[in-house]
Amino acid sequence: MKLVHVPEEIPAKVFTTEKHGISKATHTNHLTLWQGYAKKTNEIRQALAEIDLDPAKANQIYSQMRALKANYAFAYGGYINHNVYFETMGGDGGPATGDVATLINESYGSFEHWAADWKATGIAGRGWAYLGYDHEEQRVHTYLGDAQDTFPAWNNTLLLAMDVYEHAYFLDFQTARAKYIDAYMQCIDWNSVNARLKRALGK
Ligand SMILES: [Fe+2]
Repeated sequence: MKLVHVPEEIPAKVFTTEKHGISKATHTNHLTLWQGYAKKTNEIRQALAEIDLDPAKANQIYSQMRALKANYAFAYGGYINHNVYFETMGGDGGPATGDVATLINESYGSFEHWAADWKATGIAGRGWAYLGYDHEEQRVHTYLGDAQDTFPAWNNTLLLAMDVYEHAYFLDFQTARAKYIDAYMQCIDWNSVNARLKRALGK
């Protein structure tokens, strides 16, 4: 059975966010949560493979099958979202570059319009804002996530995931989430976002 890699450390480039106010302490504390999602993903995969689940006992109110399958989406979703969060952070921020910039302009009219939508999505969500490449319509969309297992859209590839849970900013900005989002947007690594888009398009 294939297990996911449990991250050992935060990528060094991420710590450059300190110059915009997102501290190293926030990231190092965040690592334990990221690791937790990886470990629980692996634990559930092992349980699904090893526990002799009786199909006749599957039940929508409570059953071992329900607990494993429902919580898998939370565990693996949390792992993937944090992978993308840390992979695409630690850059120069500012306006998007490359093919992603073209897609943002085509889909939202301008970077400024997209940025306003992105920030508002981050304020309106309880846990996440996502930028997805929609393979159905060949465009990008922002999506709101209350948790990693809420409101995903099928046939999208995640290009950017912004953590807006309080653990991502409370230490540095207390309850001022808007200030955190402004800082985050100064730290997006658009090169990494473009690399994710290339992979999504099979280039
Ligand atoms: Fe997080």
